[in-house]
Amino acid sequence: MSLKAEIHIPINSDADIVTARQQGRELAQQAGFNGSDLTVISTAISEVARNIVEHARSGEIVLSVANGPGRSGLVVVARDHGPGILDISLAMQDGYSTGKGLGLGLPGTRRLMDEFEITSKPGAGTTVTMKKWRR
Ligand SMILES: Nc1ncnc2c1ncn2[C@@H]1O[C@H](COP(=O)(O)OP(=O)(O)O)[C@@H](O)[C@H]1O
Ligand SMILES: [Mg+2]
Repeated sequence: MSLKAEIHIPINSDADIVTARQQGRELAQQAGFNGSDLTVISTAISEVARNIVEHARSGEIVLSVANGPGRSGLVVVARDHGPGILDISLAMQDGYSTGKGLGLGLPGTRRLMDEFEITSKPGAGTTVTMKKWRR
């Protein structure tokens, strides 16, 4: 089975969030995930894509299959050149939102995934890199 190395999905609108979620689910299925893992992965992708639309207006999601020694999984990168985040530890707290959201997107997503990294530079943008390994 051949898997495309990377899938880039431009994120500009709600419709793009749906596309990213569907493409992520499809690639995860091809990578051997099933059951509730597929729901977890698509939920996580939705949240970071929604953050791009709501907080940065536009950006992209990059999906790829991870192959570590003796394990495989899915890598999701969400990247934008929006306003960035001043205080990342604050943004990672449950209930913190500068918008109309519930402020559960980032902390919830971190709990759903196996690995979660966020880097941000005020005025320059934000990148979230997260991974889910096959159980
Ligand atoms: N891509 C982003 N660009 C700029 N700020 C962001 C981004 N993602 C999250 N944030 C900031 O982090 C906060 C927390 O995000 P989140 O937990 O998803 O809550 P919510 O989206 O409901 O506000 C947001 O309110 C926003 O201030
Ligand atoms: Mg959010």
